Amino acid sequence: MNKINTLLESYQLSNQLSLKNRILMAPMTRAKADNDGSPTQAMADYYAKRADAGLIITEGTVIRPDGIGYFNVPGIFKKQHIEKWKVVTEAVHKEGGRIFMQIWHVGRVSHPLFIGGDLPLSASATSMQGRIRRTQNMYYGKSREATLEEINSLIQSYADAAYHAISAGFDGVEIHAANGYLIDQFLHYHTNLRQDIYGKTPKNMSRFALEIVKACGDVIGYSRVGIRLSPGAYLNEMVGDSRDADVFSYLLSKLNDLPIAYVHTGNFDDSVKFNELRGQSMTQFIRNHYHGNVIASGGYDLTDAEKLVSQKHFDLVSIGRPFIANPDLITKLKQKKNLDSYDASMLDSLN
Ligand SMILES: Cc1cc2nc3c(=O)[nH]c(=O)nc-3n(C[C@H](O)[C@H](O)[C@H](O)COP(=O)(O)O)c2cc1C
Repeated sequence: MNKINTLLESYQLSNQLSLKNRILMAPMTRAKADNDGSPTQAMADYYAKRADAGLIITEGTVIRPDGIGYFNVPGIFKKQHIEKWKVVTEAVHKEGGRIFMQIWHVGRVSHPLFIGGDLPLSASATSMQGRIRRTQNMYYGKSREATLEEINSLIQSYADAAYHAISAGFDGVEIHAANGYLIDQFLHYHTNLRQDIYGKTPKNMSRFALEIVKACGDVIGYSRVGIRLSPGAYLNEMVGDSRDADVFSYLLSKLNDLPIAYVHTGNFDDSVKFNELRGQSMTQFIRNHYHGNVIASGGYDLTDAEKLVSQKHFDLVSIGRPFIANPDLITKLKQKKNLDSYDASMLDSLN
């Protein structure tokens, strides 16, 4: 392993928050919460073991019952969720770590069985194909268009989740607006067919995301709010449209006016260049339009990330699967030890 220097230096993420290093633990759904969505002691142990990361971003945590799309994902909408998350944040803080909660609503990436029999809410009525991950025989299907009243209530639910996350001891929240989930469904032409003030134009299509950022920022302070975006279409049946770049350049220009903590790329392979982003990778596109802290993610080797951070292509990197394989990833880097390889079977248990 080559020398890692810059990535291991501390970084001032905001005037509130100084990070020990620039290597973040990426949000990763582990589907190991209790059946009522409460995080467990095993989850507290799992996160505490990784407290050496500059910042841990938790797995997607659902903001309300109709935002669920998988079994055993954690929530942040019940009293007991807040109490149990306190155990997690205390364990991480005790080890000197920092932790943001990723707040999540899956939108159309759900099934009536998860949400009391209703059709999943989305920007528009669309249809998804395919089997739901981690199930034997449950398939995606139709979604329905959120009414204006429901949109207002969703924005309020994100703000409530942010408030509850801070009550549970988190250092901040990351708004999950990436990977084809609810907010992303408003940001791409493929899934936003609306004809009202939330559709048709870059300004309207960005409105929902911006209203959520402002609602959360107003409640917990902007320096405690980050956002994850996937300007390229790649997951959960999103299909790119050449007009998408205009939506994301508009959104990023507006985020420049808000003192949020960061913008984080949501991607599994950040070497991919997207036609709809005019041949750029997601992080290149974000860097070109956003002037604040940029966190890259997606298949990064740490030696490459070190080079790219030194050359200012981005400011921080989030690491996912290698953090599952190596709870002591930061120690190994400091001691110049090789990392263990990730294997999908490691997802079976929380270690
Ligand atoms: C098991 C697993 C679960 C994931 N769950 C989430 C999630 O809840 N929220 C999210 O934004 N990204 C999620 N991701 C994506 C990761 O945050 C990250 O972007 C991706 O793994 C690429 O980084 P890596 O190559 O360093 O693993 C998940 C990835 C994996 C492997």
